[in-house]
Amino acid sequence: MPALVLLGAQWGDEGKGKATDLLGGSVDYVVRYQGGNNAGHTVVVGDQKYALHLLPSGILSPGCTPVIGNGVVVDPSVLFSELSGLNDRGVDTSKLLISGNAHLITPYHTTLDKVTERFLGTRKIGTTGRGIGPAYADKINRVGIRVQDLFDESILRQKAEAALDFKNQVLAKLYNRRAIAVDQVVEELLGYADKLRPYVADTTLLLNDAIDAGKVVLFEGGQGTLLDVDHGTYPFVTSSNPTAGGACTGAGVGPTKINRVIGILKAYTTRVGAGPFPTELLDEDGDKLRTIGGERGVTTGRDRRCGWFDAVIARYATRVNGLTDFFLTKLDVLTGWERIPVCVAYEIDGRRVEELPYSQTDFHHATPVYEYLPGWTEDISKAKTFADLPKNAQAYVKALEEMSGAPISAIGVGPGRDETIEINSFL
Ligand code: GDP
Ligand code: IMO
Ligand code: MG
Repeated sequence: MPALVLLGAQWGDEGKGKATDLLGGSVDYVVRYQGGNNAGHTVVVGDQKYALHLLPSGILSPGCTPVIGNGVVVDPSVLFSELSGLNDRGVDTSKLLISGNAHLITPYHTTLDKVTERFLGTRKIGTTGRGIGPAYADKINRVGIRVQDLFDESILRQKAEAALDFKNQVLAKLYNRRAIAVDQVVEELLGYADKLRPYVADTTLLLNDAIDAGKVVLFEGGQGTLLDVDHGTYPFVTSSNPTAGGACTGAGVGPTKINRVIGILKAYTTRVGAGPFPTELLDEDGDKLRTIGGERGVTTGRDRRCGWFDAVIARYATRVNGLTDFFLTKLDVLTGWERIPVCVAYEIDGRRVEELPYSQTDFHHATPVYEYLPGWTEDISKAKTFADLPKNAQAYVKALEEMSGAPISAIGVGPGRDETIEINSFL
């Protein structure tokens, strides 16, 4: 089983960090392929809790080489503060590898992210304000600065000029902000060059060689399927491709090399930021899910919007990612409800719709059609096998599996590494 993709099947925060960490001990490489420090992945190891943003979750597994692929956008200031935070806690980060083709997030991207959101007013996306969208926009506009540009001052200067000529006009004339000096940007970025150099590698070559040699490579997505710029709830999305295809472009590995695609699926649904969310609960149940589930953003500290499980979305994730398995997380959070609603279809203008509507207007008008499954009251956090779960919890999992279109191969019953029921091995 040389190459697996692990990605979010909903709107992010499904528990990807925990799942990656769980597999990290058995894989040779963990590769981030898109996104940047907009991600917030929580990993709990024993009594230690880690919040990772840019670094792959495999960084916590000593035998594993963490890789930041070409598809990621790297804020060097965040990179080094995250590395030193882990070093201070005794984590060895020396194996990290970073693609020379990854694009950089610079302070002007972060500034632009914030002012653009302010300018959008009520139409804002609710971004994390980390400069993600503007950095990817520069990449696509071909005025981005890549990691490898730091090693050639004259090229770096030319690229910074190309990027800033236009942006400074926008900043000064449209947003009434001070222009950013090229010298200042070049000086700041050059300051990272020597520190970055030891980590930089031809990660595409290395990963392809590793797969050919039978090593196990795990591609770890940030965000989630419904935040994908092509397949998500555009424009309320992030600016990259967390879906499975993004692993190929974001790491330089062909689809024929990938054997398994695991969707991380929360037993209910959450979303951060603006955009449609058919099963959202604005009542006591929503507050209860938020409190019991600890649903607060790891990156921005914002409360997450909470709602019931949505099988239409899970089916869609199976389709657009070619999922082979699900890892169902946070089943323990649902303990204590007498009956648990599950959205099995939508009603849109009087019609029952089973699949995610491709028309955004339809999706905005969708209301959930619920089936009600019986709940359970027993503590499930110590369950080690499927048979340890109460009958109603087993039936809930089986019903979700049936509706979602791929086998549920693992179940999370708590945040810790060992609070997991493994049904089918991933490796
Ligand atoms: P990610 O962005 O997908 O890695 O997810 P986050 O870390 O942002 O959010 C998931 C939260 O749920 C974290 O606080 C995890 O520690 C926690 N978590 C993960 N799996 C489980 C689980 O099965 N049960 C419980 N109770 N918490 C979990
Ligand atoms: P993880 O990896 C949840 C959301 C933001 C906003 C939209 C665009 O922890 O699952 P961006 O800053 O990316 O331009 O913001 O995407 N968003 C996330 N929501 N989890 C994440 O990451 C997210 N990363 C971005 O809230 O709605
Ligand atoms: Mg998160």
